[in-house]
Amino acid sequence: MTTHLTSALTEYCERWLRPAPAAVLDVGCGAGESTERLRESGYSVVGVDPAAPAGAGFVRSTLEEFGVEDAFDAALAVRSLHHVGDLGAAVASLRAALRESGVLVVAEFVFEALGDATEEWASERGLAAPIDPGHVVWRFEEVDAALLAAFEPLAREPTGYLALEAARPELEAEELEAIASGRLPATGIRAAYRSL
Ligand SMILES: C[S@@+](CC[C@H](N)C(=O)[O-])C[C@H]1O[C@@H](n2cnc3c(N)ncnc32)[C@H](O)[C@@H]1O
Repeated sequence: MTTHLTSALTEYCERWLRPAPAAVLDVGCGAGESTERLRESGYSVVGVDPAAPAGAGFVRSTLEEFGVEDAFDAALAVRSLHHVGDLGAAVASLRAALRESGVLVVAEFVFEALGDATEEWASERGLAAPIDPGHVVWRFEEVDAALLAAFEPLAREPTGYLALEAARPELEAEELEAIASGRLPATGIRAAYRSL
């Protein structure tokens, strides 16, 4: 099981997605674990990812080239939007895939929150650096700004990233407590949007 797909994340998604059996697009679905989990909750889900599994209900494509319009009640993007090549094209494709007032739930990495404090916190606990600084990804503020051209914000919640990214779930509570007390920046965020 992928460590970051926690029950707290599943609950957050299901709180904001339309009720099952809504049609949901799982953007950057990877191996399809979140896709399968939503199906088990009664959603009708299509997973899109250049590395999607073969088979029904999965599309091997970038989000930018997905090209299906007006088909989904909601979308989910877990740790995927910071990887896309053309952010503007990806957001336009995501907006086109959703019906009017479609809901989008995003769980993201806040690249811009990385710094001395996160490096120190991670190294004190023997965690590998969460990302190679030379690896270019979109900052969350860039992802958010691009989304706000086509979506209105419904909710957002800072959260952790370091412990789960390092597959050290036993450190998650400590990371969340450090974030809550202001000793550590939040390197994760959950957010919900509605299409304009
Ligand atoms: C960190 S993984 C997250 C996978 C899965 N959502 C999860 O949480 O386990 C990022 C995924 O984004 C996918 N991805 C990268 N660029 C993409 C794009 N342009 N469109 C759709 N997915 C993309 C990658 O193939 C990868 O599976």
